[in-house]
Amino acid sequence: MTDKKTIVDYYRARATEYEQIYYRDVPERRQEIADHFIFVEKLAADKTVLELACGSGYWTQAAAKNAREVIATDIAPEMIKEAKTKKYNSPVTFINCDIYDLPFKSALFDLIIIGFWFSHEPKQNYSKFFEIIERPLKADGQIWLIDNNPPAEGTKSDFLHTDQAGNNFKSRRLNDGREFSILKNYFNQNELHDIFSKPFRVSRLTYDKYYWSLLLDRK
Ligand SMILES: C[S@@+](CC[C@H](N)C(=O)[O-])C[C@H]1O[C@@H](n2cnc3c(N)ncnc32)[C@H](O)[C@@H]1O
Repeated sequence: MTDKKTIVDYYRARATEYEQIYYRDVPERRQEIADHFIFVEKLAADKTVLELACGSGYWTQAAAKNAREVIATDIAPEMIKEAKTKKYNSPVTFINCDIYDLPFKSALFDLIIIGFWFSHEPKQNYSKFFEIIERPLKADGQIWLIDNNPPAEGTKSDFLHTDQAGNNFKSRRLNDGREFSILKNYFNQNELHDIFSKPFRVSRLTYDKYYWSLLLDRK
């Protein structure tokens, strides 16, 4: 079962400790993130940006460095509270909403960014998800996604099971010991290309040790 409530509960509970993922002390890994951060700073320059599942605002800060405006959305009020503690270079508006029920008209944004969400998206939902992320995008707009490869999660094996649709579930434990079963899928480079080149034109695909990223154009 792909339990949407579990993942929301997990991230609501994890909000104050979430950003630790960005500061683990592996220089190569931090360099990959730093390179992506600079890429997003440049990509978002002078654009109207929508961020989906913005979390604590890590990529919001990158986009807001040079953007005209950023609208950053997340379902977890606790994440938005964390994100609001940061300083942003451009105007940022936070909206507490569900990625599956976005309050936007079509064709509003030049760029949509989505950090570390696709790995949680159930495989059986992909076509619906692609429609959702494409609708708010202008005709010449782009979508940027980043997500992790297994080494980004350390060496601990926390695999639980695979469901009928092929989604993998992992055990995730918070600092206070609470444990959650979380849908988390990984992809090789060819899989990513196959999945995304059907609904979009793949403008750029990076696949490094720790992270993959995609820049997509509308077809
Ligand atoms: C892995 S975190 C990514 C946060 C941020 N994008 C980043 O890259 O640091 C996933 C985020 O998705 C949010 N989320 C979970 N379910 C959601 C939903 N149905 N709609 C919108 N956001 C959701 C969580 O609250 C969490 O902030």
